[in-house]
Amino acid sequence: MIPGKTIWKPLVQRAVTGQARRFCMTKTQPSWPDELSAPGLYLHVPFCKNLCPYCPYNRVEYSAELFMAYERAVKQEIDLYSSCLRGRSFTSLYIGGGTPTVNWPGLLSILRHLRERIGGVAAICIELHPANMDNDCLRALKDAGVTMLSIGVESTSDSLLDQIKRSHNGLVGINAVERALQLGFESVNVDLMFALPGQTLADWQADVRTIVDLGVDQLSTYPMFSFPYSDLGQTKGIRQVERPPHHVIKTMLKFTDEYCEKQGLRRCAVWSWLKPGKGKFSSITRHHYIGFGPSAASMTGSDFYVNTFDVSAYASKLPSERPVAVSMPVNRRLEMAYWLYWRVYELKISDCDFQRVFGKDASLDTEFGHLLRPLILMKLLERVAGGYRVTKPGAYWIHRLQNEYSLSYINHLWGACRKEPWPSEVRL
Ligand SMILES: C[S@@+](CC[C@H](N)C(=O)[O-])C[C@H]1O[C@@H](n2cnc3c(N)ncnc32)[C@H](O)[C@@H]1O
Ligand code: SF4
Repeated sequence: MIPGKTIWKPLVQRAVTGQARRFCMTKTQPSWPDELSAPGLYLHVPFCKNLCPYCPYNRVEYSAELFMAYERAVKQEIDLYSSCLRGRSFTSLYIGGGTPTVNWPGLLSILRHLRERIGGVAAICIELHPANMDNDCLRALKDAGVTMLSIGVESTSDSLLDQIKRSHNGLVGINAVERALQLGFESVNVDLMFALPGQTLADWQADVRTIVDLGVDQLSTYPMFSFPYSDLGQTKGIRQVERPPHHVIKTMLKFTDEYCEKQGLRRCAVWSWLKPGKGKFSSITRHHYIGFGPSAASMTGSDFYVNTFDVSAYASKLPSERPVAVSMPVNRRLEMAYWLYWRVYELKISDCDFQRVFGKDASLDTEFGHLLRPLILMKLLERVAGGYRVTKPGAYWIHRLQNEYSLSYINHLWGACRKEPWPSEVRL
């Protein structure tokens, strides 16, 4: 743990966002998103066949009946937004879960409904579970215009998969990746998890080699987070989940970086490596987006808000009202901080990009110089032509800080929204 986290959190928050006190999300209905700049779309499908105990995402066990209620409601939610969507082009649609393909004919029906109501979308990205992506499903996704896939392989070791209670084995995972690559999608990403209980450096090296050698376009690696509200966090205290020690985790990251670089992949984010020229698979790193489905978040020019997590509560509000659980207004400074957070995660901060988003009078150095300069002195960041670049030691520290700080915001928000469908307020 980072020492003195509770003392540092308000100080860091103030330096980045201009506000030291905790953010408060309330029941207030946000305004309709009409001032969107290069927006993306998000669709959440909260169903899985098998619930993994470590999983922090909003998901329930799949039932055909509940899915039908969800499908009807999500189409109604899309219809509520029709005046914000009509004729507008979106940079991307990200379909996450849960397991979005758990009922893929139903998903495709939602996708058709959405596409009929928007001007266009440049990329469609979807999360897949290796056990829920047969060839018929993959072909149907391709025909429906899906461009990028991300497959949750997590590990190729049967014993580790068994230990984290995944419903697939190593061969099923590898075969899923091979089949996806053969179909010629624009980009195929694979998720692997490290810092798993009992995982050795040799286990991890074998996973990275196996997956990269299959020829994937992107590799994303996540240290196993243990959220207090997850099933795992509830049964075991968060600090009791045994993980490899920090020096081993550091070596795991170092190995991943070196091996990926050697095989021609370049680091594109703290935990991701990408083939040059390929589009990056990423979820909510966009500036503005509108989310549909239970627990989907939206970030608009004026508000950040989150739908209720409960599928039945979500369906009960529609078609008359938006199923927003909590929201908070977003001012320009907060928008800038949010933008900066994701650029740091992507390891590159560009002056031009900042001005493209916030106007030509906006200056990265004026807004954030006080924060960035000390990081340069600490060799965590370097000034390069046109912006800043996070160094390798910097990437390691972001990995540590991500665990300690930003996950605590998610923990408060998701923890409260999982407990009650309509919390009166959530302090982050
Ligand atoms: C929604 S899941 C992917 C699709 C599908 N549900 C599956 O599990 O294969 C998104 C990814 O989040 C990552 N993930 C899930 N729980 C995690 C945790 N507790 N810590 C770190 N990463 C996690 C996994 O790598 C997983 O592939
Ligand atoms: S990790 Fe994936 S399959 Fe497992 S419960 Fe979470 S969303 Fe579902």
